[in-house]
Amino acid sequence: MAFCRIPALCRISRHSEDSAIDKRVAIVTGASRGIGRAIAERLARDGRHVVLVARSAEGLAAVKTAIDAAGGSCEVRPCDIGDGAALNALVEAVAETHGRLDILVNNAGITRDTLLLRMTDEQWDEVITVNLRSVFVACRAAIRPMMRGRFGRIINLGSVSGITGNAGQANYAASKAALIGFTKTIAKEMGAKGITANVIAPGFIETDMTEVLGEAVKAAVLPNIPVRRLGKPEEIASAVAYLSSDEAGYLTAQTIAVDGGLAS
Ligand code: NAI
Repeated sequence: MAFCRIPALCRISRHSEDSAIDKRVAIVTGASRGIGRAIAERLARDGRHVVLVARSAEGLAAVKTAIDAAGGSCEVRPCDIGDGAALNALVEAVAETHGRLDILVNNAGITRDTLLLRMTDEQWDEVITVNLRSVFVACRAAIRPMMRGRFGRIINLGSVSGITGNAGQANYAASKAALIGFTKTIAKEMGAKGITANVIAPGFIETDMTEVLGEAVKAAVLPNIPVRRLGKPEEIASAVAYLSSDEAGYLTAQTIAVDGGLAS
C-alpha cells in the first residue's frame, strides 16, 4: 500500500507486504501432478511462494486453485523444460520478478522404457534432455540469484534406478545416475556460498508414472520393499520440505533414497 491514512490499517498492510517479501521463493518443475504437485503443495503449506512449472497450463491451474484455497502463495509458469532457452529465461524471470530465488526442486522427469537392443537415439536423447540437461540449465541459472542471497537449496529428483540400474531403463537410469555426480559437484562448488544440493531418489511411488506398470509388476516388486507397500507422493514431499528448510544447511552432497528400503 503506497499511501494510507489510518495508522492501524497501515501497520497491518505493511506487515502483510513484509511477510510476502520475506517468503522464500521456490521453483518446482513437474508441478502439475504426482510427486511435483505434492512437493508444491507442501512447500506452499510451509509458507514458501511456489513457482509451478510444467508443460500443461490447465494442470498447473488446478494446482494453483488448490494452493490458493489452502491459503498458500503460488504462481503458474508453463514451460517445456526440454527447451533450454525457455527454461533459462523462466528461472531468470522468477529471480528478477521476486528479487530472489531460494529453492529449486528439479522434479520433472520422463521414462521411455525399452531394452537397450531396441532403444532408439530419440528415446535416449529425449530422456537425457528432459531428465538431465534441464537440471543443468535450471541449476546454472539459479545459482547466481542464490549466491546473491547467500542462501540456496537445490533438490534434484533421482531414482533408485539410478543407483541400482533397472532392465529396460538404460536411458532413464543413466540420466538419474548422472544427477548424483552433478549434484555432488554443485554442492562442492557452492557450499561456501550457503547453497546446498542434494538428490532424493524415490523408490516406487503411487503416481501416473508407476500406474502404467500394471498390477502384476507392482505385485512382483512388493516382496523387495521392506515396508511392503508403494510410497505416497507426500512422503517424498516431506523429505523435500526438510532438505529445503533453513535448518538443513549442513546436509549437502547426499543422495537420500526414500524408497521403503528397496535399494538398500
Ligand atoms: P509424473 O509422470 O506423474 O509427473 C511428471 C511431471 O513432470 C508432470 O507434471 C509433467 O507435466 C512434468 N513434465 C514431464 N516432462 C516435462 C517437460 N518436458 N517440461 C515440463 N514438465 C514436464 O511423474 P512422477 O511419478 O510424479 O515423478 C516425478 C519425479 O520423480 C521424476 O523425476 C521421476 O523420474 C522421479 N521418480 C518417480 C518415481 C515413481 O515411482 N513415481 C520413482 C523414482 C523417481
